[in-house]
Amino acid sequence: MTIIDNVITKKLLINGKWVKAKEHRPLRSPYSGEVIAEIPMATDEETGLAIEAAQKATKVMAKMPAHRRAKILETLARLIEERADEAAQIISKESSKPITSAKGEVARTIETYKFAAEEAKRIHGETLSLDAAQGGENRLGYTVREPIGVVGAITPFNFPMNLVAHKVGPAIAAGNTIVLKPASQTPLSSLFLAELLLEAGLPEGALNVVTGGGRVVGDKLVTDSRVNMITFTGSPGVGIGIRNKAGLKRVTLELGSNAAVIIDRDVDIDKIISRCVTGAFSNQGQVCISLQRIYAHEEVYDCFVDKFIEATKQLILGDPLDPETDVSALISAHDVERTLNWIEEAKSCGAKIATGGIAEGNILHPTVILNADTHLKVSCQEVFAPIVLINKIASIDEAIDLVNDSNYGLQAGIYTDNVHTALDAAENLHVGGVLINDIPTFRVDNMPYGGVKESGTGREGLKYAVEEMTEMKLVIWNRN
Ligand code: SIN
Repeated sequence: MTIIDNVITKKLLINGKWVKAKEHRPLRSPYSGEVIAEIPMATDEETGLAIEAAQKATKVMAKMPAHRRAKILETLARLIEERADEAAQIISKESSKPITSAKGEVARTIETYKFAAEEAKRIHGETLSLDAAQGGENRLGYTVREPIGVVGAITPFNFPMNLVAHKVGPAIAAGNTIVLKPASQTPLSSLFLAELLLEAGLPEGALNVVTGGGRVVGDKLVTDSRVNMITFTGSPGVGIGIRNKAGLKRVTLELGSNAAVIIDRDVDIDKIISRCVTGAFSNQGQVCISLQRIYAHEEVYDCFVDKFIEATKQLILGDPLDPETDVSALISAHDVERTLNWIEEAKSCGAKIATGGIAEGNILHPTVILNADTHLKVSCQEVFAPIVLINKIASIDEAIDLVNDSNYGLQAGIYTDNVHTALDAAENLHVGGVLINDIPTFRVDNMPYGGVKESGTGREGLKYAVEEMTEMKLVIWNRN
């Protein structure tokens, strides 16, 4: 029986046991609309039981030696590797991510857990020069990093396996316990992970998975005082709501963006077209660092636009399970309707739809918009869809101002052959990460990842997430 068959009757994971929920709902493929599973809808009470189990397990996890935490994560990575094809099918079926990208996500997930295993072995504090202060002589001071306790992880649909790994991996590495609420459209990847983590030897209660829709589970996690930290990836609206409700809990938020790239006058356009097209349209643009805004210097603008449109038209649209497919369905019909309205607004305000702008079923055709004004939704909000704007700029300074004229600041890129221009851009772009000679849509899983402004607070990437998920404790010995 495959995992997909298995999850038809799937249950909640609470305290190491699969528990039948009171209510279920059908989970449908965003591409075909067929029912692929029946998903438990956890109640407030069931979520409370999961939190109780996680709290009970904190002692076991905090006392577990680093080499054992690392071993569990290494074993998990091996188990995913052994079932990599099945894992990719799950991602593709529940999210409509094209299967080749889903395979890429599985490979990254394995690497993320391997990084987490390594990180578990190097959690340490530092010794302090207390005698630098008058009155601090004859004292030995050092810090240690202790697990924060129960981590409430709320994860998005766009990378249903690897963005879960970015929360579960460091939480286990640091000796925490977890209550995981996966996105309502993509719970199957998390349930698959939970099966493998039990098999890898994670103690009962250390990971609990509560699936559901609406706000019941999330609200409980955010407001329950037994949860010590919330780590959330999703929309700014929900993220800000979490921060407002979370009180003194630690909160890390990885939110959206309208990421941009700048193309300087000296750039070899042929070399960068395919990379820019990938950045704009992979996973249907449903990536927080998807390339949404392109600012091309007037000397290369026409050439760039022509070649970009030509390459966009070559993309193959269709079934996510077909290895030929580049672009498949958006996550919901609601998102198709929303993005068509945004395109309509752009058109009615004088922007030119150079290609795309239509939908078939839930597939929005890759859309290129020229001359879009900064106030349009496609420009200033996060589109999270296969839509990209290309605007002409007269100078790099103008482009930097346009990139910074945004509520978001996750990552930005610049292509240039001029080292001074690159250094200026690195200094003046107000974002969490600057990519020189690349698109903003770049991430490897050990790098610090996170944004400024409405793109969030805190950083992911295993080392950095472990810092967020531990408390610093100070120890001082008085030798007087
Ligand atoms: C995201 O959408 O923020 C994740 C991007 C990635 O991990 O590649």
